[in-house]
Amino acid sequence: MLRIGIDCTILGRDRLKFLLKKRQGELNIPDEDLYYAKLKNSPEELSYLVEEIVVPETWFFRDNQPFEYLKSYITNQKLGQSLKFLSIPCSTGEEPYSIAMTVLETGLPVQTFSIEAIDISSKAIHKAITGIYGQNSFRGDFKYQQYFHPVVQGHQLLPEVRKMVSFRQGNIMNRANFPQAHYDVIFCRNLLIYLDTKVARQLMEHLTKTLKVGGLLFVGSAETIHVPQEFFESLNKPFTFAYQKLQPQQKSVKAQTLPVIQKTIASLSVDQKNLIKTDSSKKNESDLIRARKLANLGKLDESILLAQKYLKEFFLSIEAHILLGELYQASSNSSKAEESFLKALYLDPNNVEALNYLLLLKEQKGDPKEVKILKKRLERLKQTQKTS
Ligand SMILES: C[S@@+](CC[C@H](N)C(=O)[O-])C[C@H]1O[C@@H](n2cnc3c(N)ncnc32)[C@H](O)[C@@H]1O
Repeated sequence: MLRIGIDCTILGRDRLKFLLKKRQGELNIPDEDLYYAKLKNSPEELSYLVEEIVVPETWFFRDNQPFEYLKSYITNQKLGQSLKFLSIPCSTGEEPYSIAMTVLETGLPVQTFSIEAIDISSKAIHKAITGIYGQNSFRGDFKYQQYFHPVVQGHQLLPEVRKMVSFRQGNIMNRANFPQAHYDVIFCRNLLIYLDTKVARQLMEHLTKTLKVGGLLFVGSAETIHVPQEFFESLNKPFTFAYQKLQPQQKSVKAQTLPVIQKTIASLSVDQKNLIKTDSSKKNESDLIRARKLANLGKLDESILLAQKYLKEFFLSIEAHILLGELYQASSNSSKAEESFLKALYLDPNNVEALNYLLLLKEQKGDPKEVKILKKRLERLKQTQKTS
């Protein structure tokens, strides 16, 4: 595992080996130990390698729904109330600028909002500050052209939007970047998927501390497994992947059990519902909840065993199939993960979480045909959600 926290098994050991060999060749240091010694002692070399490794993929209003929800959240705040946002990692700035444009769309005075944005890549931060973007940053139905003006290299954000975001280069693993109970809203999307489970847990601990009680945390669609259930409650808004931080001790065992059972029951037939009902009355804290807690502690093997045990009893639990899929995925067992997500989809063909996980798996596998089909399915679901 690298000092930046990225899991080599997810990044691909071969890709890492390739990058290291390439760099050794460029520097003419064929001896691996010599190169590692250089890497250990030279921050410049480490940051060079980081630039090669990181995945800066991002675009404006990525996923859309989180920003739609954010707009209503901001509008519903008390008039004049100040809000502090953090976008980490922010990559080349599309995410924090989307937050800025969302704030502007509310028509509220911008002085009451502060938006901080952090990324490990100096190149990405430099591009973000310049605010010039090409076609790749605008995907789907982009509705905010009024905040840009054309320049030779593409489109540049207007100065009034750029000055709403303060960017800095920083490592998410550095605790100094996390003042206590400071932010009202944190976007931490599409990094956790690349992290080693233990590192993801540490990072979530920092982020939990830095968020105010009642504050919101947004994660990526395939990252919900990393959100510590004992500190957060899902907002249950489709496609937002947003969580609210609870008061300490606020979440009772009942409250933890309910969303799981409710979500499962909602998608079942009457006969199936009768079967499931026995589950909720039987146990105060189900094996499923304990499995999730163990997963949050990084105890993947124990968690897998418990989830499997739970499924023997309650095979129709969509939640459990998804959890098991997430666990297999975190243990780099992609074929078992796929099997579990497919079982969840068999029970609920419109399950957004399972579809997103499957999409991620297919993207990682490099299966463009399946990726296209899954994206279409998700897009159709989004349209149905919008019109209903
Ligand atoms: C896929 S982008 C996600 C950007 C944005 N949050 C989004 O969802 O569109 C991942 C970013 O994580 C950054 N990153 C990777 N490791 C990091 C670390 N240890 N600290 C801060 N940023 C990191 C990379 O530089 C890259 O820009």
